[in-house]
Amino acid sequence: MLYSRIAGIGHYVPENIISNQHLETLMDTSDAWITERTGIKERRYFTLGKDTNASMATEAAKIAIERAGISAEDIDFIVYATITPDYYFPGPGFVMQRNLGIQNAGVLDIRDQCSGFIYALSTADQFIRSGMYKNILVVGAEIQSTFLNPSNEGRGVAVIFGDGAGAVVVQATEDKNHRILSTHLHADGRYAEDLYVKEPSSSSSAGRFYDNLVNDKTSGDVIMNGNAVFKHAVVRFPEVIREALDKNGLQAEDIDLLVPHQANLRISEYVRQQMGLPEEKVMNNIQKYGNTTAASIPIALCEAWETGRIKDGDLVCLAAFGSGFTWGSALIRW
Ligand code: ACO
Repeated sequence: MLYSRIAGIGHYVPENIISNQHLETLMDTSDAWITERTGIKERRYFTLGKDTNASMATEAAKIAIERAGISAEDIDFIVYATITPDYYFPGPGFVMQRNLGIQNAGVLDIRDQCSGFIYALSTADQFIRSGMYKNILVVGAEIQSTFLNPSNEGRGVAVIFGDGAGAVVVQATEDKNHRILSTHLHADGRYAEDLYVKEPSSSSSAGRFYDNLVNDKTSGDVIMNGNAVFKHAVVRFPEVIREALDKNGLQAEDIDLLVPHQANLRISEYVRQQMGLPEEKVMNNIQKYGNTTAASIPIALCEAWETGRIKDGDLVCLAAFGSGFTWGSALIRW
C-alpha cells in the first residue's frame, strides 16, 4: 500500500521586521489595539530587489529538499499555493522550478487563499498514493505587503498580514506508521466577497483593463468583512478538525500538536478551547509574522519541528480557514 509522508520541511521569512510601533507612525492604530484583536506584535515585509514570492519559496524549498535527504532533480512534481504571484501569469512555481534547476517536473499552481497549503498538500497526497509521483515539492508563499493600504482607510486589514514562505517535500512511503492519514477540503462560494481583492480583474471592464482603471487606487486593496470571517472561522475550524479525527477513529485528546492557519490569535485561541486542547498543544507564531496566508501553516509547522515540538510518531493536525470561503484539515502521523 502506498502512502505519503512529509520527508523534509523548510521556511524563509524576509529580514525586514515591521513592528506594531512602526505601523503607529503610518496610521491611527496602536500596539494595544492590534495585540488585543489579533495577537500580532510584528510581521515581515519583503525587501524590494532582494525577495520575490518565488525567491522566498526557493530558499524554503532548498532547506526542505536538503532535510529530505534528496536532491532537486529527485523532485518529480511541484504544487505551489499562493494568491500573490510575482507575475499575473505564469505562477511563481515555474520561476521557483527554474531557480532550483529542476527540469521537466510538472508545476501546479493553487489559489485557495489561507487554505491553499492544505489544498496543495492534499493534492500531493493524492498524486503520491495513486503511484504517479514519488517526491512532490509543496509550497505556500506570499507577499501580502504590496496589497495592503497602510493608512487609516486600510488599517483594519493592513495590520494583519505579512510576507513569507514555507515548503515541504511529500514523499512516497509504505510505512503506515509515518504518513499523512487523511486530508479534508471544503468551500462555500456564497461568501466570496467577504474577503477578497477585486482587481486586477479580467471582467470588471471591457477593453484594455488598465485604460479603464480611472486611477482607483483602492481597487487592489484587500476587502474584508471581519465579523463574517470571524463567525465562520470559529465554526469551520473545529468542524473540519473533528471530521479528520472521526475519519481516523481518533479523539481530540489524541492530537499532539494542532497547527492552525495563523489567521488571528483570537480565532486560534477560540478553536483551542472548543477542541479542549491545552495551550502547549497548539502552535502559534502569528505574534512574529502576522497572517501570511498560504505560507502560514508551513512556516508554523517548520518552526514547530525545528524547536522540537513535533516528535517521531506524533499526531499532528493542520487546519485552515480562508477566503472563498475555504477550509480544510490534514491529519499526519509524523
Ligand atoms: N487600529 C485601531 N483601530 C482600528 C483598526 C486599527 N488597525 N482597524 C479598525 N479600527 C477601528 C475601527 O475603525 C472601529 O472604529 P469605530 O468603532 O470608531 O468605528 C473599531 O476599531 C472597531 O472596528 P471593528 O472592525 O469592529 O473591529 P473588530 O473588533 O471587529 O476587530 C478584526 C477587527 C480584528 C478584523 C476582527 O473583526 C476579527 O478578528 N475578524 C476576524 C478576521 C480575521 O482575523 N481575519 C484575518 C485574516 S482572514 C483569514 O486568515 C481567514
